[in-house]
Amino acid sequence: MFTILVANPKGGAGKSTLSTNISGMLAALKQRVVIMDLDKQQSATNWLARRPDALPRIMSWTEETDMGELRAFAPQWMVIDTHARLRRADRTYLLSRANVVLVPVNPSVFDIEATAKFLLKLHQDPNVHGGRVAIGLIGSRTDSRTRIAQELSSFFQRSGLPVIAYIPDSVLYPQCARDGTSIYELPRGRTEQQLDAWQPLVSWLKAEVARSREAKNAKPDNTLPRRSDLQIA
Ligand SMILES: Nc1ncnc2c1ncn2[C@@H]1O[C@H](COP(=O)(O)OP(=O)(O)OP(=O)(O)O)[C@@H](O)[C@H]1O
Ligand SMILES: [Mg+2]
Repeated sequence: MFTILVANPKGGAGKSTLSTNISGMLAALKQRVVIMDLDKQQSATNWLARRPDALPRIMSWTEETDMGELRAFAPQWMVIDTHARLRRADRTYLLSRANVVLVPVNPSVFDIEATAKFLLKLHQDPNVHGGRVAIGLIGSRTDSRTRIAQELSSFFQRSGLPVIAYIPDSVLYPQCARDGTSIYELPRGRTEQQLDAWQPLVSWLKAEVARSREAKNAKPDNTLPRRSDLQIA
């Protein structure tokens, strides 16, 4: 099971939008996906509850999930949507289970400042520092023509971390959030610009899956992480 941790301590950075759209993208590719929603606001869980039955199933993992059902579903991917105040112990635990961390960042000085501190903390983690877990930066709601988008881009370059994609600001995302769907599940004519923006993320994930398969000794085990090991208040 390939585990994608989506994290940023800044509220509204685009974590749930990224988590739900990645899940929809993988489901559209006939992959079995489970979302572990660690946010009390339950944005991803509520999104799943609104998901039309006709779309490929995505499982949600909440306190109430039947673990037997989850094991039988045999997820190939886990997407972990986190909340803004992730405790250090939980971060460490989740990093020990994740294959990659995606960090969405809004083009805003406040968001850049908060993310800079977070990236330092991430970098100090042995799993990140040792190279087992890759970090990928994502520009959220970014209009490349704006000056602040260029500042976000310079911040990303200075961090030395891989910049994976810039997701444009689009009304399609709140619409997908409302309808329990993803940009991968809308009619193509409406989503072309978005799908182009997402393509580098799809390619990066493919490369990371290949990398994790090759790193035989560094692979996390395939058991499901335990919610009870987290200290979420
Ligand atoms: N690319 C985008 N275009 C337009 N709106 C967006 C985009 N990305 C996110 N949004 C909107 O921005 C708001 C915040 O996004 P989201 O809820 O995904 O952030 P979050 O990091 O999960 O927030 P929280 O920290 O509260 O969990 C939402 O209303 C969402 O619909
Ligand atoms: Mg959220």
